[in-house]
Amino acid sequence: PSSLATLGAAKGIRFGSTVGLRNFEDPAYRALNARECALIVPETEMKWVALRPDAKRFDFTAADRIVAWSRANSLGVRGHTLLWHADRWTPDWLKAHDFGPRPRSEAERLLTQHVSTVASRYASVVDSFDVVNEAINPDTGLINETALSKPLGGERTIDIAFQTARIAATKAQLVYNDFMSWAADNERHRTAILRLLEGMKKRGVPVDALGVQSHLGSKFSDTPTGLGQIDEAAWRRFLDEVTGMGLDLLVTELDVHDNPLPTEIGSRDAQVAAHTRAYLDLMLSYPQTRTVMCWGLSDRYSWLNDFRPRPDKLPKRPLPFDAEFRPKPMREAIAAAF
Ligand code: XIL
Repeated sequence: PSSLATLGAAKGIRFGSTVGLRNFEDPAYRALNARECALIVPETEMKWVALRPDAKRFDFTAADRIVAWSRANSLGVRGHTLLWHADRWTPDWLKAHDFGPRPRSEAERLLTQHVSTVASRYASVVDSFDVVNEAINPDTGLINETALSKPLGGERTIDIAFQTARIAATKAQLVYNDFMSWAADNERHRTAILRLLEGMKKRGVPVDALGVQSHLGSKFSDTPTGLGQIDEAAWRRFLDEVTGMGLDLLVTELDVHDNPLPTEIGSRDAQVAAHTRAYLDLMLSYPQTRTVMCWGLSDRYSWLNDFRPRPDKLPKRPLPFDAEFRPKPMREAIAAAF
């Protein structure tokens, strides 16, 4: 059977997934990625926490390995992420950093140096960067306060990151990436994202696309579309506004939480697949969506097993291949959506 990469390519869609420390040593898993994907994104290895042991040094060892392997297998690479705008994911040294007597210029220096070093190092390989990740507090709709934004201001921090990335990687697609808050009841988060993007456009800040992470489905229902808690009309209004600004869309981190689903594997997998299909049909009805990335291919390595374990402790089944790398109904759903 054709790979997801081949099926996607036939429709002008780049399909891919993430690899990283938790699985890169597994040769069978690397082979699965090389077979199914056109595009790879390092799961952690290009984040500040991985690249920056301290304020002075960069350590590119792990990121370079993934990039080298991707190139050797003719796979494209996405960059994730030049700035994770949330202190939960900021390295400890940066949170403890002494910004000195001129904190604004010190923050600007650190940010500019980081973004320009990383973006220029990978500019010949990476044609799409998540420049800023998760900048909004979903509960308040305000821009997060971080070690860098305290002296610089939130908007200014984000603007500098994009402007610096554009100079360092002139041809790359520059993406603002966010988890969006899936539940229909968090309109506030999405509204804040729209205002952020609008402001950037107005200020002439070079943002090209919105990355929709797509960690789907903490609630399911058997609505006709299978989209459960996603309010389809509200979603379309949101996506219409984003594309109306001239921005492209990417599905950057697709997986499906199966916590609330029953223990029986067949029906869990069927509902995850139905949800995936309905969601991708919606996203791919926008011609601006030309990249679809899963956050892992196999249930064996899903981050959700740690981040959001099932209450019944059963292994989670959020991805297109099972723990033994056998294709699941979710894989068929992705193939069919293409
Ligand atoms: C996650 C990784 O999968 C974990 O291994 C790591 O510990 C934390 O980050 N949104 C993102 C990704 O943008 O970077 C996150 O990845 C998942 C949620």
